[in-house]
Amino acid sequence: MTLRPLSLCSALALALAASAAGAQQTPPPAGDAAARAQATLAKMKAEDKTVLTHGIMPLPFGPNPQPLPPEAIPGAGYVAGLPQLGVPSLRETDASLGVAWIGGIRKDGATALPSGLSMASTWNPDLIEQGGRMIGGEARAKGFNVLLAGGANLMRDPRNGRNFEYLGEDPLLAGTLAGHAIRGIQSNHIISTIKHFALNGQETARKFVNSKIGEAAARESDLLAFRIGMEIGNPGSVMCAYNKVNGEQACANDWLLNRVLKQDWGYRGFVMSDWGAVPGLDAALKGLDQQSGAQLDPAVFFSKRLADAARGDRRYASRIDDMNRRVLWAIYDNQLDRDPAKPGGTIDFAANAAVAEEVARQGIVLLRNERGALPLAASAKRIAVIGGYADTGVLSGAGSSQVQDAKGPAVSIPLGGTSPFAAFLAQAYQRSVPLDAIKALAPTADVHFRDGRYIADAVNQARRADVVIVFATQWSTEGLDQPDLSLPNGQDALIEALTRANPNTIVVLQTGGPVLMPWLDRTAAVVEAWYPGARGGEAIASVLFGKTNPSGHLPITFPAAIDQLPRKAVDGFDELEPDFAGNPPHGTMTLTADYDVEGADLGYRWNARKGHKALFPFGYGLSYTSFAQGAPSVTGTTASWTVRNTGQRAGATVAQLYLTGRGGKAERRLVGYRRVDLAPGASQTVTVTIDPRLLADWQGGGWAMPGGRYTFATGASAEDIGQTVEVSMPARRWHDPHLFASR
Ligand code: GLC
Repeated sequence: MTLRPLSLCSALALALAASAAGAQQTPPPAGDAAARAQATLAKMKAEDKTVLTHGIMPLPFGPNPQPLPPEAIPGAGYVAGLPQLGVPSLRETDASLGVAWIGGIRKDGATALPSGLSMASTWNPDLIEQGGRMIGGEARAKGFNVLLAGGANLMRDPRNGRNFEYLGEDPLLAGTLAGHAIRGIQSNHIISTIKHFALNGQETARKFVNSKIGEAAARESDLLAFRIGMEIGNPGSVMCAYNKVNGEQACANDWLLNRVLKQDWGYRGFVMSDWGAVPGLDAALKGLDQQSGAQLDPAVFFSKRLADAARGDRRYASRIDDMNRRVLWAIYDNQLDRDPAKPGGTIDFAANAAVAEEVARQGIVLLRNERGALPLAASAKRIAVIGGYADTGVLSGAGSSQVQDAKGPAVSIPLGGTSPFAAFLAQAYQRSVPLDAIKALAPTADVHFRDGRYIADAVNQARRADVVIVFATQWSTEGLDQPDLSLPNGQDALIEALTRANPNTIVVLQTGGPVLMPWLDRTAAVVEAWYPGARGGEAIASVLFGKTNPSGHLPITFPAAIDQLPRKAVDGFDELEPDFAGNPPHGTMTLTADYDVEGADLGYRWNARKGHKALFPFGYGLSYTSFAQGAPSVTGTTASWTVRNTGQRAGATVAQLYLTGRGGKAERRLVGYRRVDLAPGASQTVTVTIDPRLLADWQGGGWAMPGGRYTFATGASAEDIGQTVEVSMPARRWHDPHLFASR
C-alpha cells in the first residue's frame, strides 16, 4: 500500500488530534508516586541501593568504551533497573530538539524540531507543548524512557555556542516554553529533564568556569526561568550543569541543589549530573542523586564507594535512601513502570514533520521589509538564490542536541582538527532544500543558484535577476562559543556586494543567535529563520511567498554593536584554545564569569538600564499585515487589553505587556504575553495574569513587592512601548510554595 503523503494541514490536524488525546491523559492519583517510592525503597536490599544512582554512556567510543548491557540502547545514557522489584532501567537520549542522531550509530532517524530560538520565537506555549509531545513520542517509540530535554538556560551572552538550543533571554518566556515542552514530552509517560541547572552561560571552559552571581540576581533571572518551567512541566529530573556557581561545581553545589532546589522549592524528583560533571563522592551530600555517563568521570563514585560510605557514615546512609526515593518517585510519577516504553513503536513521520514545519513557520521572524519586497509574487520572473547550501539543506546546531533523519545529514562539513571530538564537530545540514521549495512556489520563475564561494560569480547572477535571495549561515555548537557576532566565511562581504548589484536583495539568516548586519540598510528585506528543522526549507519558502504570514517575534536582543554587551568577550575566550570538552588546560586554572555585572538585567533589561538601542529588540517581529494594541487595564494582577489587525490580511502577532515603572523608578520587565491570530479588521481582548514574582525583588529569602505606583505598557517589542496605565499596588512579601507537594 503506498502511503499518500499527508497534506500539511491534514497531517497537522492528525497530530493535533493525537495530542488532544494525549493531553487528556489522567495524571496518577495524588500521592501515588511518593507512596510507591517509599514502598519500593523498603523492599530494597543494601546492594540494590547503588543501582539507580549511576549510569553509563552506552556508546562504543569515548574513554574506556563499555560493553552495552542487553537492555541498553546506544544513546546518551543507561541506568540499570531492579527487575526483581519491577523497577525499569532508564534508557536516556538527548535532547530538546528531538531524538539525537549521534553520528547515525543506530541507523535510525528522527524528526528535527527547529532550534530552541525558533521555538521561542513562536511565543506559542501550546505549539511548543505539541512539539514536546511529538519528540517525546519518537523517543518512546525507539524504547527510550528519558529525554534529556528542557534546555532552559537564559542567554547571558549572545556568543554562547549553545544559545540555539535554549529559549532566549527572558525568564517568563523561557520558563513557560520550557515548561510546556516538558509537559508535552512527559505526556508520553517518559521522564524529561530540565537543564542545565544552573547559570551555564558560556561553553568556553564549561567544566571549570565559575559563574559568579548574587542570590537575588540569580533568583530573579535564571532560577526563575527554571522555577516557572518546573511549575508547568513538573520534570522528573533536573540535570545539573558543568560550570561552577559561586565557587562550587553545579553538580556538587549545596546551595543550588540542597538549599534552592530541594529545601526551598521542595523538589521531589532527582538531580542527574551532566556527563562527566561529578567531582567526587561528596557530591551526594551536596544534593546530587545520580551520576550520569560515569565512565567520563575520574571514578564511578556512586557505586561501591557510595555503598561503603553508607555503611560507615549516617549522612551517606540517609542520602542513599533519599537518592533512590527520588529516582523512584520520578519513575512512578511518569508511569515508566506501568506504561513501559519499548523499541519498535510506530512513528508517523509525516505528521511529525508537519509539527516541525508549523513550529518553523511560526518561528520565522521578519526583521525588515522595504518597498513591499515581501511576500514575493509567484510570478517573479528571474530569481537568483545565493549561498548557505540552499541547494542542499538547512543548517542545524552541533553537539549532543543534533537530530537528523534516517538518511543522516544532507551534507556535513567537518571543522577538522585532531581532538577526540573532531568527529562531532561538523556543520551538518538537514534534508530540507530551500531551493526546491522556492522553485515549487514559483513554478514559472527562472531560478538560478550559486553557492556564493565566488563573489563576482554571485554578483553576475544578481545583476541579471529581478530578486536576489541570499542565504547566510552562522553555525554554532555545544562546546564552543563564537568570537564575535559577525557572519563568518566572508558572508558579510558577499551580501554587501549583492546589495550593490541588486537593491532587491532579500537576506535569509540561519543563525544560532544574534548577528551584526553591516549591510542592513542596503537590503530590501531580512528574515531570521534560525535553524529551521526537518521542514525548514518549506517553511522559509512559505514565508517568502506569503503562504505563511510571518508571526515570529525575537526572544533575544540583537545588539547594534559588541560594545553594548556587558562583556567585551566571552570570559576566557581569548586566553584558551577552543576545547569542546571544556577541561582546564592545566590542573588548577580558575576562570570567573562575573554575572554580577548585569545581574538579572539580561538582554533588553541591560539595554534599558544602559540606554542602548538594539539593532533589533527583544519582542520585535514584522508581519505582512499590521496590528495595534490598546492601553492595558490592570486590576490586581489581572491585565487586559485589545489587539486589532489594522491591515488587509489575516495574521498573528504577539501582544506583550511590560512593567515600565515601579515606585517612580524606570523598569523594563516582560510580565505577560499572548500570541493572537486575527482576521483583517478583527480585534480581540487579551487577558493575562501577571506572575507577582515579575513585579518583585528577591529579599531576605523570599519575594518582596514594594507598595506604590506601578506602570504597565503594552508593546510590540521591549523598545516599542505603546499605551500605559499606572496603578497602585500594596506591599507584599511571600515564599514560593513547594512544587507539586501533593504528588
Ligand atoms: C552533554 C550535554 C548535555 C547532554 C549530555 C548527554 O555534554 O551538556 O546537555 O544531555 O551531555 O549527551
